[in-house]
Amino acid sequence: MNDVPFGATGVDVSELCLGTMMFGDRCDQAESDRILALALERGVTFIDTAAMYVNGGTEEILGHILKGRRDKLFVATKVHKGVDGASIRASIDESLQRMRLDYVDLYMIHWPKPGMNPPEIMAALADVVQAGKARFVGCCNYPAWLFAHHNAIAAANGWPTLVCNQIPYSPIERGVEVEILPQALAEKIAITCYRPLVFGILAGKYQPGADIPTDSRGARDERIPRWLAKYGGGIARFNQFAADRGLHPAQLAVAWLRKSPAVTCPIVGVSSARQLEASFKAFDVDLTDGEYAEVTAMFDTAVKEEAAGAFPGLRRELNLIASD
Ligand SMILES: NC(=O)c1ccc[n+]([C@@H]2O[C@H](COP(=O)([O-])OP(=O)(O)OC[C@H]3O[C@@H](n4cnc5c(N)ncnc54)[C@H](OP(=O)(O)O)[C@@H]3O)[C@@H](O)[C@H]2O)c1
Repeated sequence: MNDVPFGATGVDVSELCLGTMMFGDRCDQAESDRILALALERGVTFIDTAAMYVNGGTEEILGHILKGRRDKLFVATKVHKGVDGASIRASIDESLQRMRLDYVDLYMIHWPKPGMNPPEIMAALADVVQAGKARFVGCCNYPAWLFAHHNAIAAANGWPTLVCNQIPYSPIERGVEVEILPQALAEKIAITCYRPLVFGILAGKYQPGADIPTDSRGARDERIPRWLAKYGGGIARFNQFAADRGLHPAQLAVAWLRKSPAVTCPIVGVSSARQLEASFKAFDVDLTDGEYAEVTAMFDTAVKEEAAGAFPGLRRELNLIASD
């Protein structure tokens, strides 16, 4: 497993970030333990969780299975529910208690919320770091302007700045290419990508037009049949492209993400150790520029400006600013 620099923190993490959202949901504690053991055995050092997963249940499972393994891991979790100062301060204590940890490596705001107060948020996150409860702070699902706004406030007050933005990214969800990814490269922001397989749609798990397997997330998430209907043609081409190269579709989806210079880590979310095992090979697959363009073109998902069909002002240009 490759290690990669985690943004500008000076810390390296494994390129595979293990997503734990299914721990306590689609896999029980014993299977979660097997997944974590396999991840560690294969050099994974980065795990992602959140207070809201299974309403705290995922963190509780981690509290059991992290025992004796904590020092090998960079652990990230997220603020539960409210983003006011009191909620942020209370939420970290609850997360640490559930996970039986003294600190996390990364503490993130989970979602921006209407009416949020950035100075209050950054002051509370600074308190969390000051108290030794988190080494770094970050966020998820922030537009670029909001990220910059929070960090300007932090810098003006001498508080820790956000080091990471966790966002959804895949050939089917490409909104982040406009502004968020160029900002990340220019500012050395770590980008961790969730939903790389689009809930399993890009894992060959669902066939367009066929019944949704009852033992899958598709059986309970209305987005899955909707997106299958919308992107069926692209999904069939994607699965064929993977098969032609001897790849599992899940490996192709992760390899596609890894090609972007702005992506720090794909977050690999699994509900079994078998699925995790199938993911590792993706980290040895380097798509050529031609293959990358071909896969990207399978889905008509690039964000477009209505009139000219492309954004003006180079808003998705990754080479606009010269790199060091
Ligand atoms: N910050 C945020 O707002 C946010 C939001 C969502 C997720 N996340 C994080 O990102 C992680 C990943 O998100 P996600 O679970 O939605 O990701 P995903 O990659 O879109 O979907 C993962 C699902 O794909 C299926 N899968 C995975 N590997 C497979 C394989 N080899 N073969 C067949 N199917 C396979 C499994 O579905 P089945 O369980 O149906 O088998 C698995 O639950 C989460 O664990 C969490 O840590 C963050």
